[in-house]
Amino acid sequence: MRGTLVDAFGVYANPTISEFMARVARSDDPSMRAMTTRTARSEAMDGECYVLEQMMRERHAEAQEYARRAALLRQANERPRRSNRIGSRLIELGRSLVNAARTRLFRSGSSRSSNRLNQERTILMEYRIAPLFCRPWTLNGMSPRLIESHYEHNYGAALNRLNAVSRELETLDPKTTPPQVLSRLSQEHTSLLNSTLLHELYFASLGGDGRTLPETIASAITRDFGAVNRWRDEFIALAEALAGDAGWILLTYVPRDGRLINHSARDHAHGVAGGIPILALDMYEHAYHLEYGANTSAYIATFMRNIHWGAVEARYVDATKVSPPLQLHQPEFSDVPSIAPEEVQELLNAGQRVQIIDTRPRHYSTRAQDIVEGAVWRDPERLDEWIGTLSKDEPVVTFCVYGFHVGCQSAAALRKAGFDARYMAGGHYAWKAIKGPVKLFE
Ligand SMILES: [Fe+2]
Repeated sequence: MRGTLVDAFGVYANPTISEFMARVARSDDPSMRAMTTRTARSEAMDGECYVLEQMMRERHAEAQEYARRAALLRQANERPRRSNRIGSRLIELGRSLVNAARTRLFRSGSSRSSNRLNQERTILMEYRIAPLFCRPWTLNGMSPRLIESHYEHNYGAALNRLNAVSRELETLDPKTTPPQVLSRLSQEHTSLLNSTLLHELYFASLGGDGRTLPETIASAITRDFGAVNRWRDEFIALAEALAGDAGWILLTYVPRDGRLINHSARDHAHGVAGGIPILALDMYEHAYHLEYGANTSAYIATFMRNIHWGAVEARYVDATKVSPPLQLHQPEFSDVPSIAPEEVQELLNAGQRVQIIDTRPRHYSTRAQDIVEGAVWRDPERLDEWIGTLSKDEPVVTFCVYGFHVGCQSAAALRKAGFDARYMAGGHYAWKAIKGPVKLFE
């Protein structure tokens, strides 16, 4: 009945209305009915939901009447060319019904309401199924039956649930929905989104001979893991560790660090923030049980034999084009060199002589409890008084509280005076954050 209604009012049929109709259909469940009513009320200013709310309030009587008429309308539309009198009258009736509904839909309204509706329609996200990347009949030791089942029943199910949850999220009013409900839905959405993304990557990881690594990816793996065999052993060991458990094994490029890492991701989660996975092994039981039973080692070995290294390399090349996260940039000090706190530590550990000057402002230093071990505090406003105590034969490192201005200005002034001076990026707190040694500030 509800499907017929939506069909008949095709002009209004969209995911929002379909979802609401599905909820109405389940309204024998009191909690579902209550939730639907609440949601519909919250959306009442949007014309479609206004109509639905009215229908629910009137105990479906009107909906049933609409459905009855709509069924007749559809019947007539299925035979639009039949020029009999009844058909013409039904078509006319249908048109008047649609017009009546349209008037009712926007009667409160206003162009604002209609515009808002259109705006909201534009943000509705419909995820589409991706075709299989690999050709199942070419795989070595992995049957088309396994891939088909995996693609249809696991990837497909995740995608359908993802769309359902997305629609539910989009139709909720964040102002009136309990935060825990929103949070649960959001978590489910993230998990399903990851599941679809990783499944697509899994199918796109298969289809090669698993042995021949093109030069670019081979040298990248060698650079980051020491050797291809070393990478392979680590990847397989991570997969073996998930035997009897569930999750993904991923080879991921991290733009911030410009390098590849192996890692496992349980529950479709635990992705590396900003990382771009380029190879995925599905370690959920559904990926192998049909063919390998509990023999995960055989499944892992088969996966390794079927890796499509050409596709992995193409994804790696694309990933390397992604810029690292935006770094702190201080254009006014772009000509003043900096030094990382880790590098300062290395210099000290290597026994090199470095003049470390804490130039935190006086008003700050009076409250400070600690100071970098090996540093001396000097008032940045009285640089002229203490500059003469420094040696030009040893490098100078200055720093302030966070590394923004004062340390940079001091370093710039010292460089101008002929010193080999740099400022320590991140200042006092960056030093403390890497557990650099400090002493009591007296
Ligand atoms: Fe899967």
